[in-house]
Amino acid sequence: MPIPSRFANRLTVPVVAAPMFLISGPDLVVGCCQSGVVGTFPALNARTTEGYAGWLDEIGQRLAALPRAAPFGVNLVVHRSNSRLEADLALTIARKVPLVITSLGLNRDLIAAVHDYGGLVFHDVTNLKFAAKAAEAGVDGLIAVTFGAGGHAGMISAFAALQEIRSIFDGVLLLGGSISNGAQIAAARLMGADMAYVGTRFMATQESLAVERLKQMLVESKAADIVYTPAISGIAGNFLRQSIAAAGRDPDNLTPPQQLDFGTTDAKAWKDIWAAGQGVGGIETIPPVQDLCRQLAREYETSLATAGQFSCRQAS
Ligand SMILES: Cc1cc2nc3c(=O)[nH]c(=O)nc-3n(C[C@H](O)[C@H](O)[C@H](O)COP(=O)(O)O)c2cc1C
Repeated sequence: MPIPSRFANRLTVPVVAAPMFLISGPDLVVGCCQSGVVGTFPALNARTTEGYAGWLDEIGQRLAALPRAAPFGVNLVVHRSNSRLEADLALTIARKVPLVITSLGLNRDLIAAVHDYGGLVFHDVTNLKFAAKAAEAGVDGLIAVTFGAGGHAGMISAFAALQEIRSIFDGVLLLGGSISNGAQIAAARLMGADMAYVGTRFMATQESLAVERLKQMLVESKAADIVYTPAISGIAGNFLRQSIAAAGRDPDNLTPPQQLDFGTTDAKAWKDIWAAGQGVGGIETIPPVQDLCRQLAREYETSLATAGQFSCRQAS
């Protein structure tokens, strides 16, 4: 399915800058939207519901001055450990947030409520079973969070995930996992995705809330520096090896936490041990986000224009 026109017309490149706990804030969101990329943030990044209201006000006001800006979105963690869900959802509905991204749980009432005001719901999934459930529940978009994605990630390859999910879903399909440049965004489209879902690359920008040491670590790291483990939050995800070691734990001998930590309670795990995807190897700079978006759009256009230049001999 094509990207809804009220979205597509305002994009310079088919990208959602994925929500990242403790990383995405108003400056990153507005910078993305201003540059034609859908900017998003987890509601939980504002540490209270009142703080979340303040962020929505600020983003709304700044975007109102930019009529061509891309729409923005928020991520709601639909997990029983998120005691703020009801209050944050009520605010999301009252402010008519254009895009709601749900993770760690599916909620039919939420989908209906967002649809009632004209918003879209994208849901993030790591396998076909979850994708089928969400498709049946009526989400507008499915995000395939594939092997190598930053944070909680699936174990399925991007190729396999896209073909399986596409066969049961004709809504907006997004691909997440290790995407760091415009050629990869073009590749995602050629593979059947409508949009790319890019997290880690946006962490290494001037506007992200990441501390300087984390930004530097992203520039210095390669895919082999990413550890896939359930030992940090309680479910499997990708984290920077060096940050695990710096926090005093042995990356090669990790023990699972006593309780789940999705950032909905004290967020201990996420403060010192930093999530990142295998796409770190493609990060060499920490640019202003508008420069990054322009670069992604340029690389995307060039890659699409040249993709057909290799001509094979006629098949008999
Ligand atoms: C530091 C970090 C924090 C994240 N926090 C969240 C979050 O709060 N909610 C969520 O749905 N996904 C979260 N994610 C996952 C991203 O939204 C997205 O799925 C992922 O970054 C895509 O893969 P990539 O990082 O390889 O581009 C996080 C990822 C990272 C790297």
